[in-house]
Amino acid sequence: MITEMKSTLEKIFPEAEDFLPINGTDYVEFYVSNALQAAHYYKTALGFQSFAYSGLETGNKESQSYVVQQGKIRLVLTSPLKLGTEIGKHIDEKGDAVKAIALWVDDAEKAYNETIKRGAKSYFEPVVSKDENGEVKKAAIHTYGETVHVFVERKNYNGVFLPGFKKWDSSYSPDSVGLKYIDHMVGNVGWNEMDKWAKFYREVMGFAQLISFDDKDISTEYTALMSKVMTNGNGRIKFPINEPADGLKKSQIEEYLDFYNGAGVQHIAVATDNIIETVTAMQSRGVEFLKVPSNYYDSLLDRVGSIDEDLAPLKELGILVDRDEEGYLLQIFTKPLEPRPTLFFEIIQRKGAKSFGKGNFKALFEAIEREQEMRGTL
Ligand code: FE2
Repeated sequence: MITEMKSTLEKIFPEAEDFLPINGTDYVEFYVSNALQAAHYYKTALGFQSFAYSGLETGNKESQSYVVQQGKIRLVLTSPLKLGTEIGKHIDEKGDAVKAIALWVDDAEKAYNETIKRGAKSYFEPVVSKDENGEVKKAAIHTYGETVHVFVERKNYNGVFLPGFKKWDSSYSPDSVGLKYIDHMVGNVGWNEMDKWAKFYREVMGFAQLISFDDKDISTEYTALMSKVMTNGNGRIKFPINEPADGLKKSQIEEYLDFYNGAGVQHIAVATDNIIETVTAMQSRGVEFLKVPSNYYDSLLDRVGSIDEDLAPLKELGILVDRDEEGYLLQIFTKPLEPRPTLFFEIIQRKGAKSFGKGNFKALFEAIEREQEMRGTL
């Protein structure tokens, strides 16, 4: 898949040199009001494992972070320990939310310099932190809203996570639910800002545009949105960018922007090799998913052709299926995991397909509108 995507990119940018090589997502950091309880939820409900800790006991007087891990996915859950911090302000404005999408690079200073040279706004300059296990270099730039990208260079580090963190040993280790890696992370941006941020990823970060959807692709009777999917050189990082489009009623993107007070991460799509097992485990642990009407399944196989899975468990669990030229995919979306209707997760299993479930957009957005109606925000 990566080779094919690379050749697609080479066709688009034949002479392009990847000035920002990225090995993958290093971690996603959330600012939350209670890191301990958030970590417990991600372990219990989503099958993450205890991984690392930073706080008063490790000499950190500013904040407390619990790090949880599953497959290649690492979530850092951070809470402030004092009044008047940037973290506290972020939580007040946005509720529990994603602050940083950290990208694993071989040279953080080069990543920073190359992106700053191309117009990125600095969040912090390259900084080295050390402990007995070596050193990590980090630098960071702003992206949409208050969200930032942290470049993490860890080739000279052998510790558990980062200097300042110790291993988090816990007697409570619920089983994994089979989540493997982050497939894509979607940003919601304001009216007429999609092109601006697509341009940012293209020009400042050297990404290419994989796909674009206009409001004809993504609209229901009432609401609409537009989306462009940006990807880095090796295809490991995919960032769709959504903006609201005109409709008769308020779109889910506007609802998000209102509650979030600006642009931010809308959903994190995580990959599994067996979506039926993963979603069965998550539902039994209390995670709630969006449900489409059962008539979605009546003509499903006519729409997507034959699939390996039995239809009954897909219907029972509410898993959606879509097909493109290269294969098919199975996907399902959680309800928002925060008090505000903002961040949610997508569970995705790809069986050849490299797209994002365009065929499901209408059914899905109608399901979201039913939720919006219950919230009184449609
Ligand atoms: Fe998605």
